[in-house]
Amino acid sequence: MYQLIQFKTPSIIFGMDTISQIGQEAKKLGAGRALLVTGPRIEAAGILEKAVSFLKKESILVEVAVEDRDTPEPATTVVEEVAEIARKGSFDVIVGLGGGSILDVAKMASALLTNPGKTRDYFGKEKVSKRGKPTLIVPTTSGTGAEVTKHAIFLDRESNVKKAVASTNLLPDVAIVDPMLTVSCPPSVTASAGIDAFLHAAEPFLSKNANPMTDAMALEAISITSRWLGPAVAEGEDLEARYSMSLGSVMSGIVLNNSGTSLVHAMAYPVGGEYHTPHGVTLSALVIACFDYIRIAKQEKMVRLAQAMGEPVGGLSPREASARALDAIRYLIQSVGLPVCLKDLGITDRTKIARWAVEAHKEQRLLSRSPRKLSVEDIQKIYENAF
Ligand SMILES: [Fe+2]
Repeated sequence: MYQLIQFKTPSIIFGMDTISQIGQEAKKLGAGRALLVTGPRIEAAGILEKAVSFLKKESILVEVAVEDRDTPEPATTVVEEVAEIARKGSFDVIVGLGGGSILDVAKMASALLTNPGKTRDYFGKEKVSKRGKPTLIVPTTSGTGAEVTKHAIFLDRESNVKKAVASTNLLPDVAIVDPMLTVSCPPSVTASAGIDAFLHAAEPFLSKNANPMTDAMALEAISITSRWLGPAVAEGEDLEARYSMSLGSVMSGIVLNNSGTSLVHAMAYPVGGEYHTPHGVTLSALVIACFDYIRIAKQEKMVRLAQAMGEPVGGLSPREASARALDAIRYLIQSVGLPVCLKDLGITDRTKIARWAVEAHKEQRLLSRSPRKLSVEDIQKIYENAF
């Protein structure tokens, strides 16, 4: 009944064309010299040039590190390379400009400037003991929420499993969220990132860690992302859709940071690590089986989720109304061309289930928030159902 609630968020600047404030914000953080970490798509879309010119306008010396790895999740080695560049340049501020992977690299590289060792030493909960150099984080997709979270996700090449660094000291100093930067984001990335955003609100809303502050924001984020993802995928230049998805994404990122995801994310890690499928795509293939499994524990909240997604539930029993939530999620995923089961994702080899279940079960940081207790066998059953 009585909860201890902690609520953390970086300073957030949200709105159209707010990229123009990147120079002033970097200056407030103490730059001097800034290392800007970005990717090739950002450079090609002309976003990098814009960002650099606004930084230079404030007389900030900028060095650019372009990361062009093609797996959806960066390997830890990429972070170490960027940290090495950062060390040599003695920068005052680290700027991350890009999709979630780039932002995670920027956040972790900053942490390695003030903390010893390598990324691998910090997998797990609250292991980064000192804040890094100040970070200014600018997303160019609507989904990961990396601009407002304490998490960074990397592929651990040794185990071929995605692992998370979850430390409050990784929380960015400033997030600039400019929906205009997402206009050039292709439909497939918009869809995958958008489902990730939706789940960063829906999963914490159904978790044991939910609280009234995050629930309020989660319901609005669920409503916004489920309403606007379709239009954003259908027409990338629909500015109202882009604005709404950026807003929904930053809100769900705040929910994620303060209440946390659970079994869908835990079960996606081994699958994504093995098949290198984009994060949101992997989540899409697992969420129906996962939510169906936890439904008996959270029926009343599933009804509120269905309502937030615009489903008429008046006159329905809780069982019928909670089933509507699953229908609405299935429709949302299919309507943007994503898979609703592992078979849809092109994965047919069931022999991997036993190993995945063991790997997913190790993610107790996430599974401890599940509203229904999960053994390795339970997780195996959910993977089976996801086929
Ligand atoms: Fe996610």
